[in-house]
Amino acid sequence: MLFNENKIRFFDELNSTNEYASQISFEPNIEEGFIVWTLNQTKGKGQKGNIWQSENAKNLTFSVILKPHKILPAKQFNLNMAVSLSLIDFLKSLLPENNVFIKWPNDIYVEKKKIAGILIENQIIGNEIENSIIGIGLNVNQNKFPNEIPNPISLNIISLINYNLNEILLKYLPFLNNRIIQLYNIDFKKLKSDYLNCLLYFDELKQFKIKNEIINAKIIDINEYGKLVLITDNQIIHECDLKEVEFIHN
Ligand code: BTN
Repeated sequence: MLFNENKIRFFDELNSTNEYASQISFEPNIEEGFIVWTLNQTKGKGQKGNIWQSENAKNLTFSVILKPHKILPAKQFNLNMAVSLSLIDFLKSLLPENNVFIKWPNDIYVEKKKIAGILIENQIIGNEIENSIIGIGLNVNQNKFPNEIPNPISLNIISLINYNLNEILLKYLPFLNNRIIQLYNIDFKKLKSDYLNCLLYFDELKQFKIKNEIINAKIIDINEYGKLVLITDNQIIHECDLKEVEFIHN
């Protein structure tokens, strides 16, 4: 196993586990699979420069250091798919209903609500990913969220169980291990087909905003760089990255 409890460094409080993990990732004693976990982030980072809010000691906020030297920077979206799928596999093992989805690129949803977010920061040197910092925020026991968080949900809201955070983290690690092995075996085909299989709104006509214009389109694919491939009702194809497209719905 790449990951185990002896490779976890725990803090009561940190600014951001991604920041801390990224600072220590070049130290010689920090091996692949090292995990930084805290109960409270004072400056948690989300995607697109947003902040990641999480109530003290209620949720999991941690970062995993990977050294995916075999994955070319151009293929880095496969890493996003592997990590997203590891959370899907884990949540499917925990929740009775089969209703967990990935909202592109890597938000984890239960029905139409977000239960986890992933922030992957790659340190690229030359043509190699030297370190990859995989930041995961999973809503576990929090059952009240500030209004500005659009559509949150947690494990506790779904099951009414109060979970032990340490146990949840340790239970998750084998699922991450399996998908990282699949990634390192360069099984990109399986990763992509599994990813598309649980992609929220795949092949459904929805509204998206591109270049300040609202369009009706369907998600039909993810290209090899992880861009969203949309087809409009008048058969125009758009390939967009995260900055170029906005979902008009949740
Ligand atoms: C998102 O915007 O959906 C991504 C959220 C990622 C949050 C996690 S919490 C642990 C790690 N440390 C951070 O500062 N961010 C990530």
